Amino acid sequence: MKRKIKSLSELADLRKRIISNRDPNKPVVTICIGTGCTALGARKIVEVLLEEIKAQNLNDRVEVKETGCLGFCELGPRVILFLRGYHTLKSSPKMCLKLSQRL
Ligand code: FES
Repeated sequence: MKRKIKSLSELADLRKRIISNRDPNKPVVTICIGTGCTALGARKIVEVLLEEIKAQNLNDRVEVKETGCLGFCELGPRVILFLRGYHTLKSSPKMCLKLSQRL
């Protein structure tokens, strides 16, 4: 169900709800699939990362999220691993395999 956010306090409440539902010990890999990053190969990175997570049987231990433009598109594809503060610019499938070893 989509709901329109009508005020800053509703946005703050939504943020609190999302954070409280998240396991703070579960890494979240966020991959930008905005136009720029997609043009630079982000979809292949998502595919390789999901395959590797499955191969390592990490499905329950890591969350992969696709997101819109994070800014600095020229440095894409951008990948961020929340939990360990790992952030890659100009990412590649090979870099994501290395990233998966840090999960
Ligand atoms: S499209 Fe990925 S940072 Fe802009």
